Amino acid sequence: MADLEGKVALVTGGSSGIGRSTALAFARAGAKVAVADVAVEGGEETARMIREIGGEAIFVLTDVTQSHQVEALVRKTVDTYGRLDCAFNNAGIEGAVTSTTQCSEENWHRVMAINLTGVWLCMKHEIVQMQKQGGGAIVNTSSISGLTGLGSNPAYVSSKHGVIGLTRLAAVEYAKQGIRVNAVCPAAIATPMVKGLVDAHPDMEQFVTGMQPMGRLGTPEEVAQVVVWLCSDSASFVTGQALPVDGGMVAQ
Ligand SMILES: NC(=O)c1ccc[n+]([C@@H]2O[C@H](COP(=O)([O-])OP(=O)(O)OC[C@H]3O[C@@H](n4cnc5c(N)ncnc54)[C@H](O)[C@@H]3O)[C@@H](O)[C@H]2O)c1
Repeated sequence: MADLEGKVALVTGGSSGIGRSTALAFARAGAKVAVADVAVEGGEETARMIREIGGEAIFVLTDVTQSHQVEALVRKTVDTYGRLDCAFNNAGIEGAVTSTTQCSEENWHRVMAINLTGVWLCMKHEIVQMQKQGGGAIVNTSSISGLTGLGSNPAYVSSKHGVIGLTRLAAVEYAKQGIRVNAVCPAAIATPMVKGLVDAHPDMEQFVTGMQPMGRLGTPEEVAQVVVWLCSDSASFVTGQALPVDGGMVAQ
């Protein structure tokens, strides 16, 4: 287990799925955690789960598409715990599964606002704090849809490709200031997001697992372990990477 003792971590999309598992993994590694999400009940529950295992956590209601709310999230984290060492910019939505021609403008703008603009706004405010401290580590959630054209979802695929571009740029921009920026690219992971997709398209799970060399969905914990490692000093020479957590899917 990577060591984050004494560190402070922030997780967006922390009310559910990969975000909740990563918030818990940060806490198990010794970090104090600010859980951010638009979903209040789930966010409070994640913070409570962390306190139950002996960790420290707050929930901060945050819509990542709103710059002033993201700025307030970083301020609240620093006011509460004194600093910000690790940030996991993970909030995201799938949006509608459509072809490029059938994608509505409304769907396009909503997916982009949360998945891409949201990640940029988080980095914008987190990096200012990390510069003041002289360093930090950021992990953004992309997807195998950021590395391939799979998925019948032009807005999602474009947003996740965009996250990798932002990640690489910021990694290069801030490398000399001790700020590392990486992305994780999960394949299908068993979370409420995938459950929603499978419920809407029942043949989807078999289709997805059929394309997987490992023949199964990943677990949120398997992504969380990679994020915690990327944020730890064990990954001190790793920056600007888009790391698949995909059971070998894009290796094919
Ligand atoms: N589950 C997968 O198979 C998979 C694969 C690749 C990438 N991802 C990515 O992983 C991330 C987490 O997905 P998940 O599967 O855990 O989904 P999830 O639906 O369980 O969790 C996503 C969380 O983001 C929150 N959220 C949505 N809009 C928000 C906003 N505007 N501001 C703040 N929070 C907001 C939701 O309330 C929810 O708690 C997403 O970025 C997703 O695109 C998931």
